[in-house]
Amino acid sequence: MKNEIKIFSPATVANVACGFDVFGFCLDSVGDEMVIRKTDKKGIHITKIEGFDLPYEAELNVAGVSALAMYEDAKPDCGFEIEIYKHIKPGSGIGSSAASAVGSVFGMNELLGNPYSKTQLTKFAIKGEALASKCEHADNLAPAIFGGFTLVRSVSPLEILEIPSPNNLYATIIHPQIEIKTSEARAILPNEVSLQHAITQWGNFGSLIHALHTSDYDLIRKSLQDVIVEPYRGKLIPHYNDVKKATLENGALGAGISGSGPSIFALSHGLENANAVKQAMEQVYSKTGISFEIHVSKINTEGIKVL
Ligand code: HSE
Repeated sequence: MKNEIKIFSPATVANVACGFDVFGFCLDSVGDEMVIRKTDKKGIHITKIEGFDLPYEAELNVAGVSALAMYEDAKPDCGFEIEIYKHIKPGSGIGSSAASAVGSVFGMNELLGNPYSKTQLTKFAIKGEALASKCEHADNLAPAIFGGFTLVRSVSPLEILEIPSPNNLYATIIHPQIEIKTSEARAILPNEVSLQHAITQWGNFGSLIHALHTSDYDLIRKSLQDVIVEPYRGKLIPHYNDVKKATLENGALGAGISGSGPSIFALSHGLENANAVKQAMEQVYSKTGISFEIHVSKINTEGIKVL
């Protein structure tokens, strides 16, 4: 059995407009790399972090907390070293903390001979994710681990459903280089929603799931609406409405806030349209003076993987 493993832990888009806290999909063009190593010295030790300034103490690090949750359950007769090569900026809205949280437990599971299922790995990773967002949710973790689109039907007990991805579905993501903390973006949301908004939202969410199962791009277009969260969080993202309008005018199926922002995602039927949407986003943001990155990605149906 191997003593060391290098993994790619992908970025993800949570919520997908109408699926707040339960729905997400996996990207293939951006993610973190991590090296996990078995050691004689017991415990979890983070030995290297490149890319961003994050804590080395396992108890204070998202990857460390999820690793400790699994370590305490597995009680292996070895320890683990973790190296983190972070490419996803924390607070970007594309699952930076989730990539760290799943990377450590996925790597350790491989080195232990895969005793845990993907759902069990998600359960450990929730502990790490909660350190960052102050709340136990799995809508970035599940697509990072399973790949494709995932629906978290229940967190307790944890139940994850894999939803098919139409073959020609692409995402374009713009990441303005500002930080929005998930915990703060959650704090501005209301505790209660109106029945009328709830009816609209679950109508759209149900139809989005049906559209993904049947590769019905027109129904995806109609379903990508968020009447509950976007009205609050859209205000936190500079030029959000302009970007959304430009993507729709250029043929995107729909657009919305990626996770808790500031990233904005759009979905497209085909790569050509995803690239046109990229240009439309560029045109809006290049006038703002805010630096940004844009990624175009097919839906990554594989998820986290060994390199
Ligand atoms: N569902 C979460 C939120 C994703 O929107 O707050 C961000 O981690």
